[in-house]
Amino acid sequence: MDPAVQLEGVWKTFEGHRVLEGLDLVLPRGATLSVMGGSGTGKTVLLRLVAGLIQPDAGRIQALGEEIVGLREEALLPLRRRMGFVFQGAALFDSLSVFENVAFPLREHTALGEAAIADRVHRALEMVGLEGVDRLPPAELSGGMRKRVGIARALILDPELVLYDEPTAGLDPANARLIAELIGALKARRVSETAMVVTHDFEFAATVSDQVALLHRGRLVEVADPEALRTSATPEVRAFLAGELAR
Ligand SMILES: Nc1ncnc2c1ncn2[C@@H]1O[C@H](COP(=O)(O)OP(=O)(O)OP(=O)(O)O)[C@@H](O)[C@H]1O
Ligand SMILES: [Mg+2]
Repeated sequence: MDPAVQLEGVWKTFEGHRVLEGLDLVLPRGATLSVMGGSGTGKTVLLRLVAGLIQPDAGRIQALGEEIVGLREEALLPLRRRMGFVFQGAALFDSLSVFENVAFPLREHTALGEAAIADRVHRALEMVGLEGVDRLPPAELSGGMRKRVGIARALILDPELVLYDEPTAGLDPANARLIAELIGALKARRVSETAMVVTHDFEFAATVSDQVALLHRGRLVEVADPEALRTSATPEVRAFLAGELAR
């Protein structure tokens, strides 16, 4: 079977600044891959490329069986609907309630009636351990709760692939652990089993991932299972884990 995601020789430059320099990546179906790397190394750019939100300068990107480079917006939309994107910083709509934030993709992409929408939204909020807050505006929630609303919204269309951008950034250890447990529980319940997680946090990556990769100078310098990465002899990996590469 095709991998869920495959990138080959992907280059991306912004205004003369090279971010990705021939990056290769394979994410098998059913697997969770974490991509770590310092601040500004291109982790968010990588997720945006996989979601077809931006196009590379060169290289091939296959996601969920489609070649996405050069695909027109009309063809990208149905593909993006099969992916859930948990944005860095949650990116909730402040003027909408928690309920309406989570319901948003259903209203955009389905013809479900109000009763079915309410049912789906309540199940999604229950899945992320958030009940009784659906009428509140996101501003009244803690950072950890906002992240969970973002995850509920990303999962509401039952995506085949979930892209998590820094799901634990800015959270205290207890809330970060809750997010790790949630991602683990979703996998155990066979909900959205294939995931790509971007994070600075190796311990979090090790908890939720089958494979962990380090992005450095535009390429993945190593991709390995968490324990192999922890004991890796690769200098960039050692430096990153020791906190010596800029985060
Ligand atoms: N739309 C854009 N226009 C210009 N430059 C961009 C754009 N998007 C990203 N960049 C640049 O590409 C580089 C990588 O950005 P990216 O957001 O992917 O970093 P990151 O690894 O996610 O960092 P962080 O850990 O801080 O979130 C940065 O230098 C950034 O300024
Ligand atoms: Mg980022």
